[in-house]
Amino acid sequence: MQLFNTIAETQYYLKTQQKAGKTIGFVPTMGALHSGHISLIESSKKENDLTVCSIFVNPTQFNNPEDLKKYPRTLEKDCEMLEAAQCDVVFAPSAEEMYAVLPKLKFDFGTLETVMEGKFRPGHFNGVGIVVSKLFHMVKPDKAYFGLKDLQQVAVIRQMVSDLSFDLEIIPCPTLREADGLAMSSRNTRLSVEARALAPHIHKLLVLAKEKLQSGESSVKTQAFAAEYFKNYPEFELEYLEIADFDSLETITQANTPGKTAICIAAFLGGVRLIDNIVF
Ligand code: PAF
Repeated sequence: MQLFNTIAETQYYLKTQQKAGKTIGFVPTMGALHSGHISLIESSKKENDLTVCSIFVNPTQFNNPEDLKKYPRTLEKDCEMLEAAQCDVVFAPSAEEMYAVLPKLKFDFGTLETVMEGKFRPGHFNGVGIVVSKLFHMVKPDKAYFGLKDLQQVAVIRQMVSDLSFDLEIIPCPTLREADGLAMSSRNTRLSVEARALAPHIHKLLVLAKEKLQSGESSVKTQAFAAEYFKNYPEFELEYLEIADFDSLETITQANTPGKTAICIAAFLGGVRLIDNIVF
């Protein structure tokens, strides 16, 4: 496995590989890898000659400086996991390398970013758009793999790829869960033992909300049910539970409309912000 810290080394190596006819699969990450990330690497390995993983905790997508400071950084362990998964290239640049000049460009993803994560984390998707487009230009992948736990991120990146005619395919991959239902996330490592024991309630609630919507309950009543549910678990601070169209992310009032429905949730638990969703 090759580990590069500079853009120049990465591009030099990848250009040589591409000239030799190799296809490139790309998994962008912020590190603190878990089995969910490794499943993206595995999907990429099945479909491409070469798999590249980037590890970069992108400061421009954090609207909360404390969250950026506390984000787990475990490069050595990440590289061991990637080596074991037979990833071919790791690109782990410093912030100075990625942002030698701070970008002035600003993305506007319209309604895709005025709801849910975009509403509660102003500027977040601009930072994601900037870093992902820079990475796409650096790596020039044929396919890029993203986990559906960040459903809104996948929608935003798809829009960006379509609007800016990036010559690559976005492959959304299913969320991996722990045995008790908790969605795998780098942030889970920050949960205390007590908080970790409670965390599966997020997924449990999503399953119950799905059942309610499927049995004809309205979105408003389902949201009220969610607020009520967390009254039994005051350790949680519910930020939002939204019922939205899977593609447009527009709010839907009843889940019997055509197309896929997504129930998306964000909640704080012991100071850690967790997100999850269920699609049906
Ligand atoms: O999903 C993430 O880990 C990040 O948002 C991404 C796509 C690597 C951009 O920094």
